Amino acid sequence: MVCNVSDLFKDAPDTLKTAPIAVFDSGVGGLSVLRSLMEVLPNERFVYVADNAHVPYGDRPQAFIAERTLAVARFCLNQLHAKAFVIACNTATAAAISQVRECFPNAVVVGIEPAVKPAAMQTRTGVLGILATSNTLASEKFRALVQGYAADKTVLVQPCPGLVEFVEQGELTGPDIESLLSRYISVLVGQGADVLVLGCTHYPFLAPLIQRLAGQSVQVLETGLPVARETQRRLALEGCLAEQPVSPALAFYATGNTTSLAQAIEHLLGLALPVSRAAC
Ligand code: DGL
Repeated sequence: MVCNVSDLFKDAPDTLKTAPIAVFDSGVGGLSVLRSLMEVLPNERFVYVADNAHVPYGDRPQAFIAERTLAVARFCLNQLHAKAFVIACNTATAAAISQVRECFPNAVVVGIEPAVKPAAMQTRTGVLGILATSNTLASEKFRALVQGYAADKTVLVQPCPGLVEFVEQGELTGPDIESLLSRYISVLVGQGADVLVLGCTHYPFLAPLIQRLAGQSVQVLETGLPVARETQRRLALEGCLAEQPVSPALAFYATGNTTSLAQAIEHLLGLALPVSRAAC
């Protein structure tokens, strides 16, 4: 079924401004984007959906990720009546954003991609280090991004198996994560990278550790804030920004373990809130 935001709201246009913004990731990574969205759009209502029955997405087949992303998009737009769908996952954006836009042609769909463009503008050594999942780095979208914005730079890519699992378990410090991360980072910094791009939404939760391991002369870039500003811009264009705070401000859904997502929300965002089961 093809549907879109105007279809969903045509019988009740007044509810468009107060409808929630849906934020989606395979697991807890998108909470780093939600944090920025809440900062930039304090009046808005958000629903967060973690497809944690299938996390991590990083090495799964593209077709599987696209199928899951579409299932969650249908749940958010058709059942939760969200006015926007933010794909707070680099891997899912690379695999599926075109299909989501095709399926929901008039919906506000915002994706996320590694900060290659700002990194190319900020580097002094001309060497960029990109940390992301294997799928993101292997995607056509990433190839085009590098070609478009950093063709004259040396772009070093580092897939990071294992990192997402640490963040999912709430393990953001300690000898194990530190030794895994220092292996990934030393390869990049050792070859002259002076900007590191966090190309997976789980990684901003490791930013303090990454910064310490890389050293203060290296810039560490994440993408939550630009995504939040883009969401604001798109909603303003559609005339559907909330004009005053709407309650309840936050609702959380998980396709898998609801308790572990609730614990992660408390640990990563400091919010003690219930998590419902997502039927998708
Ligand atoms: N957080 C996701 C990203 O930005 C992917 C993590 C995963 O499920 O592998 O790519």
